[in-house]
Amino acid sequence: MSASHDTIRAVLWQDDTLKLLDQRLLPQQEVYLEYRDVAAVAEAIRQMVVRGAPAIGITAAYGVVLALRQRLEEGGNDIVQRLEGDLNLLGEARPTAVNLLWALERMGKRLFSLPEDVADPLAEMLAEAQAIHEEDIAANRRMGELGAALIEQSGFGVLTHCNTGSLATGGYGTALGVIRSAYAQGRITRVYADETRPWLQGARLTAWELVRDAIPVTLLADAAGAALMQQGRVKWLIVGSDRITANGDVANKIGTYHAAVAAKYHGVKVMVVAPTSTVDMALAHGGLIPIEQRSPEEVLSLGGQRVAAEGAEAWNPAFDVTPAELIDAIVTERGVVLNPTTEKMQEMMSNQ
Ligand code: MRU
Repeated sequence: MSASHDTIRAVLWQDDTLKLLDQRLLPQQEVYLEYRDVAAVAEAIRQMVVRGAPAIGITAAYGVVLALRQRLEEGGNDIVQRLEGDLNLLGEARPTAVNLLWALERMGKRLFSLPEDVADPLAEMLAEAQAIHEEDIAANRRMGELGAALIEQSGFGVLTHCNTGSLATGGYGTALGVIRSAYAQGRITRVYADETRPWLQGARLTAWELVRDAIPVTLLADAAGAALMQQGRVKWLIVGSDRITANGDVANKIGTYHAAVAAKYHGVKVMVVAPTSTVDMALAHGGLIPIEQRSPEEVLSLGGQRVAAEGAEAWNPAFDVTPAELIDAIVTERGVVLNPTTEKMQEMMSNQ
């Protein structure tokens, strides 16, 4: 695997500061914003400065470090209550990606179990956030190997939706990690990327990442996916996830379900790639996943410019749920689940 296929990092901790690559400005501008305040971190997640389920979780983990520093500097005897408030604020920033709650639960457990006389609580919490970050990259590398192995050397392309790459994770990516590995191994020749309305994560982010890492990419309007499959240009649809329920239902960027239905009709296989921090075994099925509704303005406008007829309304769910029966493989760092069921998901989750 050449390093040139993995050069991007969206979340950085440098000089006691959280730095986030402002994904709203890509690909025109590469600007890192600096954060020292937990409320500003929650707002950055809400405003999609940082986005993608694992990247949101990692950002929130560093947000907890900032919160602790702020509360220790302020002093007083209600530090614990204020920290609980900070964790809630971060947890409410976006509702669908369970990685956010997963990371906060892990950080909260560590934080509230620190011994009273711990010498350097900030160092302890920073180490935990950095572990979450590094484990995510390692999980992506592992999933890259596992997922690529499912793809036969074919000379075909693959279709992907949204952005699941280094920008959406600690680094390397989930679905894009599999794509990076599969391309490096010569298993695929090209990536077809849905532009992914309304935020254009495909056009702005996936295309930027792939061009930068020298992987051939062809963009298409979201509605063109079925025709691409009809022409036999792709054998796999490979996507990430914001939350996978106990039965293998998958919440992901709006349009994933649409693409998976078309894939089933055309005999194109569907692979979902996500770390176990995305798996929510507490929810029995996808109908229970909270789906984020975003502003109608995102659909009515393009690049800040109104395009829809005045007076029109818009429906703007940010995610949809693809039922397990449409999914051929769920790839996690703990293993691959083929044709997911609750029993198979339980078995995979019990692997270490
Ligand atoms: O609204 P976004 O851009 O945060 O949505 C991102 C997605 O839907 C991704 O596919 C998902 O988070 C997986 S990222 C590895």
